[in-house]
Amino acid sequence: MNVYDAERMMDLLTLVGYEAVDTPDEADLVILNTCHIREKSAEKVYSDLGRLRQAKSSRAESDAPLVIAVAGCVAQAGGEEIIRRAPYVDIVFGPQAYHQLPEMVARVHREADAVVKTGFLAESKFDYLPKPEAKGRFSAFLTVQEGCDKFCTFCVVPYTRGVETSRPTADVMADMENLASGGIREITLLGQNVNAYRGVAADGDEWDLGRLIAELAKIDTLKRIRYTTSYPAEVNDALINAHRDVEELMPYLHLPVQSGSDRILQAMNRRHNADTYRKLVERLRDARRDLALSSDFIVGFPGETDADFQATMDLVDEIGFVDAYSFKYSARPGTPAAVLPEQVPEDVKTLRLQVLQEKLNAGKATFNQHAIGTVMPVLLEGPGRHPGQLVGRSPYMQAVHVNASDDWVGQIADVKIDAAHPNSLAASLMGEQTRRAIA
Ligand code: 5AD
Ligand code: SF4
Repeated sequence: MNVYDAERMMDLLTLVGYEAVDTPDEADLVILNTCHIREKSAEKVYSDLGRLRQAKSSRAESDAPLVIAVAGCVAQAGGEEIIRRAPYVDIVFGPQAYHQLPEMVARVHREADAVVKTGFLAESKFDYLPKPEAKGRFSAFLTVQEGCDKFCTFCVVPYTRGVETSRPTADVMADMENLASGGIREITLLGQNVNAYRGVAADGDEWDLGRLIAELAKIDTLKRIRYTTSYPAEVNDALINAHRDVEELMPYLHLPVQSGSDRILQAMNRRHNADTYRKLVERLRDARRDLALSSDFIVGFPGETDADFQATMDLVDEIGFVDAYSFKYSARPGTPAAVLPEQVPEDVKTLRLQVLQEKLNAGKATFNQHAIGTVMPVLLEGPGRHPGQLVGRSPYMQAVHVNASDDWVGQIADVKIDAAHPNSLAASLMGEQTRRAIA
């Protein structure tokens, strides 16, 4: 979502005359769009700011001084504290305020004081942003939902991104029509808790995510739909049915489980346990046989024992995830888990993460290996690693390198998988003849 937000900030600044440059040295304005989810990402902001401070002071006398802004969830959580710690920062604003960016920049140029905007606003930023454009691309993100009310005990998101809100259906449909008419063929619907989507329709109805997906699929030139990130306990029948009925909905689902131990899941305030998660996956796979699953994991949550960790390893074996993000638990100030006794020592976390990642990587490698010899449709998006090569995504989110000429860019081509690497596949275009033979 930060990638999406940064792009929207750029769209807005383009309207008032800014253009993107490659390095901070060339910039009049630098925005650090930050993440607060783990301590490491939050701390990185201050080391980046230290470097920007030097760039700023070396230009202090010039008639184009450098304006430094901190955006995103570190800004939201830190507010004025960021200005105290780094007084050379000019603007601090949270994820809900970036539509006011041109105004904030103008204020910095007019007044000496720093601008801090971290309140939760009554207005929706989406009403103030320009329409999203395809910009020559074939796949895009589209935020449909923001915020989270789930309050997992380890997580800062409910505090930084605020309560769950859904964009009205007409706004989402209009954005999508615009993107599709510009050439977008694949959309990834975004939300911190995207399957909590409850969009108000013009007729007063409420659409859930399953309904939204079904309606989006009616747009002729939109061929692929994805969504992320989902909360397992909130996957409903409509969403499962969408996986069964909507051909455009890709057979890949990121469904964070976090842990395989019921005791830890309860302490995390997740509303599933290992068994309900297993059953949910079964139902999803009944709806869509080839559904591939990815997940998020936290190791070393306070109180996690070897047996708890083993339960996570067992669940990984059982489900067979094809990809995953896994993290050491990071205590976040203000969250309930940060003050729990029995914090797990760092070396134990490190070891568990290593063991888990080995298993997850092996699962991914096996999945990629199994693809060899199969034919799958790939949306070819642009130049690959080598000349004469294009790269695209399989239905299961694998990066696929294909020898193909540039006129294939933007097309969904059937390709035969020739080789598997840890993080990508190599494939060749199906010749017309072979394609006919298969048909
Ligand atoms: N420590 C470690 N990982 C975390 N995540 C969220 N909060 C924390 C934390 N305090 C992970 C979860 C979530 C993903 C986006 O980040 O796995 O699903
Ligand atoms: Fe954080 Fe996700 Fe839990 Fe919400 S559901 S509190 S975003 S981990």
